[in-house]
Amino acid sequence: MFDVLEVARQLKNAVLAEPERFDATEADAWVTGLPGPGEVQVRTGREPLWRNLGYWRDVERVDESNCERAGELFAAAQARLAHLLATTAGLREADAVLDCGFGYADQDILWAEDYRPARIVGLNATPHQVRVGRERMRLLGLEPVVSLELGSATRVPFGADAFDVVFALESAIHFRTREDFLREAARVLRPGGRLVVADLCQRTDRETGVGLRRRLRHRYWRGRYAFPEANVWTTQRYAAELGRAGFEAIRLTSIASDVFPAVNTALAALRGTRAAASPPESRSLAQVRSDVRHARGMEFEELHWLTRFNCDEYVIVSAVRS
Ligand SMILES: C[S@@+](CC[C@H](N)C(=O)[O-])C[C@H]1O[C@@H](n2cnc3c(N)ncnc32)[C@H](O)[C@@H]1O
Repeated sequence: MFDVLEVARQLKNAVLAEPERFDATEADAWVTGLPGPGEVQVRTGREPLWRNLGYWRDVERVDESNCERAGELFAAAQARLAHLLATTAGLREADAVLDCGFGYADQDILWAEDYRPARIVGLNATPHQVRVGRERMRLLGLEPVVSLELGSATRVPFGADAFDVVFALESAIHFRTREDFLREAARVLRPGGRLVVADLCQRTDRETGVGLRRRLRHRYWRGRYAFPEANVWTTQRYAAELGRAGFEAIRLTSIASDVFPAVNTALAALRGTRAAASPPESRSLAQVRSDVRHARGMEFEELHWLTRFNCDEYVIVSAVRS
């Protein structure tokens, strides 16, 4: 039946791109097939609760033969993305780190345990995630190293030169605005400090000449996923904004071909296995395999980060505070 309230809720979400809604307990799962915020359960603190698309280079990718293991393979690729940020930054023991937009803080656990920086401060706009993240740190005994704060990456509650490294793992696209975040990152980094970001953008301008229907579709999906229009940048614009904010040694490295196609297949498998597992059973494993085969055959331009958000680029951004 046509649900007026549901349509109204979705339209409101689309118009108000509020990051605070992200994984709030009343929100939907960010990906069908993964636990929604209301289903997040922390027992040991080690349950993977990542909220990024993953870096699928040199890891097992999902295909027709292993789609039952899509959740586990996805988590491995997501952890790999966190490692890529750490190695890009040359993360080391003396470092004081600011992590902006930490989700459920999976990357902070990984960085604290595998790279042993002196201190990690996480800043996140979603109260539910901050609560869950803190509980995980308590369970894992990481409270002396990792502190998680509720707040916005666009108004960092620390003084100048407080950090050696600033990270934003697939979160800067949501900050209102990314430009404000770059200014704040430059302020709180000491001179010579490193900024490393995993982010979505456009290789070249994809906005000009787009027809009204597609523009409205992009507007709607960007709103729903708290992606402000002000953050629709090309790589060229991104580099220019970093320079303006006070960074040098600016590099944007494309990893799009190791992100979008593989995660698209993983999500098809997750959606299918979730549907197969939940009564009334609507999908057989053979159907899930067929969904996965279809996803693997999709053209790059058909992937939903392009059709919904008009983003065809996924970059690792690195820069040094002048
Ligand atoms: C796509 S998730 C990525 C989470 C995490 N980095 C990961 O890889 O699992 C984006 C995160 O950015 C956070 N966020 C959005 N806007 C924010 C802001 N202005 N300041 C801090 N965090 C924000 C959201 O709450 C969410 O946790």
